[in-house]
Amino acid sequence: MTTSSAPGKIILFGEHAVVYGRPALAVPVTQVRATATVSKNSRGGIWVEAPNVNLSSELSRLAPDHPLAAAINSVFPALGISRPPACTVYIQSTIPVAAGLGSSAAVSVAVIRALSEFLGQPLPDERVSALAYEAEKLHHGTPSGIDNTVITYARPVYFAKGRPLQTFRLGAPFTIVIGDTGISALTKESVGDLKKLWAADQPRWEKVFDRVGEIVWRARQAIERGDIPSLGKLMDANHALLQEMTVSSRELDRLVEAGRRAGALGAKMSGGGRGGNMIALVEKENAPAVAEALKSAGVGRTIVTQVG
Ligand code: PMV
Repeated sequence: MTTSSAPGKIILFGEHAVVYGRPALAVPVTQVRATATVSKNSRGGIWVEAPNVNLSSELSRLAPDHPLAAAINSVFPALGISRPPACTVYIQSTIPVAAGLGSSAAVSVAVIRALSEFLGQPLPDERVSALAYEAEKLHHGTPSGIDNTVITYARPVYFAKGRPLQTFRLGAPFTIVIGDTGISALTKESVGDLKKLWAADQPRWEKVFDRVGEIVWRARQAIERGDIPSLGKLMDANHALLQEMTVSSRELDRLVEAGRRAGALGAKMSGGGRGGNMIALVEKENAPAVAEALKSAGVGRTIVTQVG
């Protein structure tokens, strides 16, 4: 039997513009995880059990474009195995689904690792990330690759599509409160809507994406210097540009505002938007107050995470 687990993630800066080649910053969130366990079975065939999503099925009965089936099926050719042994892939996750916390990528990474280990040929991180990226395409259409990257390597990343992975130094640890709107929203839709806007007026949106790229670069420098107040201001500026891209929502804006009023140094939506999560950068001692304010404003669940 083999088990592997992978953390959730949040995008600190640069979502959406990252699809258009600009950089983005993301960090793992270790308080939530997806875990995959692969064990021999005696009933024959390959079985997939994912009680969180009420799934219990033989792999061959899942549609080939089912993201879980795709993640599992990608492992055998990658290892040169044409007749995989009977086994059960059991998946459990505490990462909220469709909330911008990387649940799909974390499940793929955990499954690919546990299965390749079970088959006696553990895959290196680069391959795990590449296979998870293929499964992400089924969820997101045109993913930038940031989710599978930050989740595979489980450390802060400065990511740009098609460029070698860069991690960065943290000048000082900082604290983030994550607030879940409880509204599930499909990243594929917000990405698709923005693509339509972009196609109708490319010069305008390329300029917006350039401004995001600049914010991301300045955020990286602020993190390296340990300049947390500047980081907060950059979050606010990034949120304003996400509003302009129409990927925020009334609920997200309201929560971002509530976080700021409760003393956050800065706040923004995170991930695909329209629903899902927002994040607030806080002084560590102020985290409980900001979390409380978000709950009063309607957030069902908050996660406080320390970066660094
Ligand atoms: O919704 P999430 O957390 O999976 O993040 C999506 C981030 C986008 O930039 C909107 C899309 C992408 O593929 O990078």
